[in-house]
Amino acid sequence: MDHRARPYRSVLYIPGSKERALEKARTLPVDAIIFDLEDAVAADEKSNARATLADALTEDGYGARMKIVRINALDTEWGAEDAQAVRKMNADAVLLPKVDGPADLDALAAITGDLPIWAMMETPRGMLNADAIAAHPKLAGLVMGTNDLAKELQSRFRQDRLPMLTALGLCLLAAKANGVVIIDGVYNAFKDDEGLRAECEQGRDMGFDGKTLIHPAQVEVTNAAFAPSPSEIELAQRQITAFEEAEAEGQGVAVVDGKIVENLHVATAREILAKARAIETLAAG
Ligand code: COA
Ligand code: MG
Repeated sequence: MDHRARPYRSVLYIPGSKERALEKARTLPVDAIIFDLEDAVAADEKSNARATLADALTEDGYGARMKIVRINALDTEWGAEDAQAVRKMNADAVLLPKVDGPADLDALAAITGDLPIWAMMETPRGMLNADAIAAHPKLAGLVMGTNDLAKELQSRFRQDRLPMLTALGLCLLAAKANGVVIIDGVYNAFKDDEGLRAECEQGRDMGFDGKTLIHPAQVEVTNAAFAPSPSEIELAQRQITAFEEAEAEGQGVAVVDGKIVENLHVATAREILAKARAIETLAAG
């Protein structure tokens, strides 16, 4: 399926070891889930989490939500075993952390075969190799790992994310140039709705498909921010109509609300309507 036809507004991390959270996610209105075996799982819980997660995915009940499993990096003591296990799990994709370049993806694909791969973008080297990573034949999506990246960059948190913008921009360019999905990083203060909303809107305005989340309380704000608003939908419809009328009169350009509407704006308007329909379809399914 064309990834633009599928919504990825809200992508919730769930520790693979937490049965209650694994259960709860079956009823949360998220577009995708990242079942985590990496950072959210303590070292002595790794193999338990693998088994708990495999059972939850076999039982399923996650409906149309996309199921992505984040494994440990292949240079850790758990990575290879995670990758072998994911192959047999009922997952839609495998997410590899700390990807530095396409060779990391080759190594994973050698184990996981045709399973689509998503890459955590969270190392300085990964930023510099973003294009080659996004161009990998098995690569379907990029996920910004802004906490790890801030640590590597020795940057500080700022509400405007100025220290992060170069990295976000490089990954966005790579995703768009290669036609893959790109999801923004998490907002750590999960009780701060206003801060979350501002960061969602920034990511949405930049072109991210959605945002990764750490807590159910973040779902509603995120889903709203990354969905076309009623006024955007209404404007898109008026732009399409006006352009079609102009075309029928032999004009290549229309004007709506004092702004020029060309072919390219109509293409964007159609994408907005397609996204709104895709969200409706997912909610109905
Ligand atoms: N996914 C699904 N359900 C979750 C959840 C998540 N990420 N985080 C919390 N919940 C559930 C809890 O199980 C609890 O369910 P209940 O009402 O049935 O008992 C409910 O939401 C409320 O949780 P709350 O008590 O507010 O949070 P907590 O103190 O249990 O957990 C965190 C807070 C941050 C530890 C937890 O949200 C978490 O582990 N998040 C994911 C972290 C992660 O994956 N990090 C790696 C990527 S950055
Ligand atoms: Mg990490």
